[in-house]
Amino acid sequence: SFNLKGRSYLKLSDFSQREMLYLLDLSRDLKRAKYGGYEQETLKGKEICLIFEKTSTRTRCAFEVACHDQGAHVTYLDPSGSQIGHKESMKDTARVLGRMFDAIEFRGSGQAAVEQLAEFAGVPVYNGLTDDWHPTQMLADMLTMVEHSEKPRTEIAYAYLGDARNNMGNSLLLLGSIMGCDVRMVAPKANQPHEEIQDLARERAKETGARITITADVGEGVKGVDFIHTDVWVSMGEPKEVWEERIKLLMPYQVNMDVMKKTGNPTVKFMHCLPAFHNTETKVGQDIYEKFGISEMEVTEEVFESNMNVAFEQAENRLHTIKAILVATLGS
Ligand code: CP
Ligand code: NVA
Repeated sequence: SFNLKGRSYLKLSDFSQREMLYLLDLSRDLKRAKYGGYEQETLKGKEICLIFEKTSTRTRCAFEVACHDQGAHVTYLDPSGSQIGHKESMKDTARVLGRMFDAIEFRGSGQAAVEQLAEFAGVPVYNGLTDDWHPTQMLADMLTMVEHSEKPRTEIAYAYLGDARNNMGNSLLLLGSIMGCDVRMVAPKANQPHEEIQDLARERAKETGARITITADVGEGVKGVDFIHTDVWVSMGEPKEVWEERIKLLMPYQVNMDVMKKTGNPTVKFMHCLPAFHNTETKVGQDIYEKFGISEMEVTEEVFESNMNVAFEQAENRLHTIKAILVATLGS
């Protein structure tokens, strides 16, 4: 087998294509073992620390359930329940936690913070989302696409519509580039990935044969794709003031039935890392809808509630893939 023991996962380029393929394989094995009732505990006695400076449902629960399934213990530190950031530096925190835990998950704004944590803790650190990257999400997204496609991985085509300059945009661009896919970032110029991220992606694409399209044209961007991804238009930690401009810029990139049809692919699937703004009934985002006089945002109710939506399978796959990362980097 493959040796990823002791490794951290801080940004998309930390694992090679071969290593990502190994983690995907392991995710499938662990998923089958859980369903089959023959899962083995390989993390018995391990202590895992989960630090969340931003809120979470999926990432936190996936880490916790994965640890329970594998026999490890978890300690959860919420945004207010520790000294981190206000009373103690990341460097000191890292040197303390590294002596108590076998691995640490961190979600927060700063990429520099998670990298410093890894540098000084001396144990594997997993990025559970920063402003720049969402690495653990990418294994779940790839697993979901492979599970829902009849094509070989390198023939899979997907488009990401919306704020392609956020953690999900950066991550999906790099994911496709590393995995050799046909990847399209469809966004207005102001929301396309930064030049240095594009360069990083093109470099990887040269090695893997990935095809990269970055365009503001929806018709060109979605033509023939197998999957359409989107994400919230305003991410955690961004100021409220950006809503107005984002809605104006991104409304033409809303994922609706017209966009799904424009792919020309009758079996096209919809994906979203979630949480999503879509449901006016539950009043999630109601204040925004009212303030800007709109009724739907990044995805319409019609697409979200259709059988094109595989976002909940994508969410479940967070568990199996995060478990694979833990087992591969820490397991006995
Ligand atoms: N997709 C994702 O990371 O969800 P949470 O914010 O709920 O963890
Ligand atoms: N781009 C979103 C992703 C949430 C999982 C955010 O950072 O809020």
